[in-house]
Amino acid sequence: MTFKITLAEDHYFHCGQNDVILRAGLRHGFGMPYECNTGGCGTCKIEVVAGEIENLWPEAPGLTDRDRRKGRVLACQSRPKSACKIKVHLDEQCKPNIQPKQHRVQLIKVTPVTHDIVEIHLQSQQAADFLPGQYALLQINGELQRAYSMANLPNKEGRWVFQIKRVVGGQVTGLLFDELQRQQLAIVLDGPYGLAHLQPEESSVRPIICIAGGSGLAPMLSIARGAAQQARTQQQKLYFFHGGREARDLLNHSILNAWTGLGEQLVYVPATSFTAIAGISHGFIHEVVQQHLGQSIADYEVYCAGPPPMVQSIEQMAHAMGLPRKYIHFDRFF
Ligand SMILES: Cc1cc2nc3c(=O)[nH]c(=O)nc-3n(C[C@H](O)[C@H](O)[C@H](O)COP(=O)(O)OP(=O)(O)OC[C@H]3O[C@@H](n4cnc5c(N)ncnc54)[C@H](O)[C@@H]3O)c2cc1C
Ligand code: FES
Repeated sequence: MTFKITLAEDHYFHCGQNDVILRAGLRHGFGMPYECNTGGCGTCKIEVVAGEIENLWPEAPGLTDRDRRKGRVLACQSRPKSACKIKVHLDEQCKPNIQPKQHRVQLIKVTPVTHDIVEIHLQSQQAADFLPGQYALLQINGELQRAYSMANLPNKEGRWVFQIKRVVGGQVTGLLFDELQRQQLAIVLDGPYGLAHLQPEESSVRPIICIAGGSGLAPMLSIARGAAQQARTQQQKLYFFHGGREARDLLNHSILNAWTGLGEQLVYVPATSFTAIAGISHGFIHEVVQQHLGQSIADYEVYCAGPPPMVQSIEQMAHAMGLPRKYIHFDRFF
């Protein structure tokens, strides 16, 4: 069964009874504002003017008490129970470049990356169609749903590669890190989503900085892989800053070089924020980026992904260095 969702006089789409208003709108090509798709950021707030919805996560941190008092809901957590009329400020920039679709996927392979990150390879029947830096939602056993960024490049073979960090006590990572349980999982992949993707070459000739913190490695890897195929990166360096707490959280130059094929263009700068190690930068990753590049950051295009406080510090630092807003692209991992 589907329900009609009306945005304004002549704008509407249909939302399946198991879908949510945000994703149904995006599937139909509407610029529904969003970022995380998982209830954390609050970007997808809407008002339901008529009709009834089921709120999948009433306590979601993306809503404030004021929002709740004003009757606002998160479109990414709203499943229609009838035809609805909603109030939303559409944003052209959120219109998907690639239509998000649901794929039933098979778990093909799991390999270790660091002491607490594994690489998970999934296989779909149809092509893996996305832009480097985008993410997908993995629905596990028809109930739990989490966002994970692709680490590979789009491909016709239907291969989706993720790098997933173990979260102590985490529900989904608990299942994915358990060798026996993960073989039994029914996984549906929904995507692609996300706006912090590699920009087409025509839009910018700026050299690229990728900044990965915590579990933010995957999308930066995909962006670096995509950038390696762009002409702009064949003439200029790509800086890849990678922040961890201690040495075992980090990679090394040769692994990243093998993964990205960037060769001499790659400058890998690992940094630890907790344990100081000889020969490795020490400090929060935004401080390390600033120490290395100083005011010249204003001349780059910056991509970053990781925990919200890290992304906020990078944004503030880049702004203070004079980088125009349009040249910073980020995903906050709520
Ligand atoms: C855009 C984006 C991209 C991401 N990419 C990656 C990546 O590439 N690699 C990686 O390791 N991690 C990534 N994450 C984080 C990932 O989605 C999970 O939050 C993380 O793996 C912890 O999941 P868990 O189930 O193990 O932990 P849990 O602690 O069980 O769950 C934490 C997350 O689940 C969601 N959640 C909690 N309760 C509910 C509820 N009632 N209803 C709906 N949702 C709920 C929230 O998003 C919360 O942050 C990304 C997050 C976002 C937003
Ligand atoms: S997109 Fe809905 S809360 Fe982030």
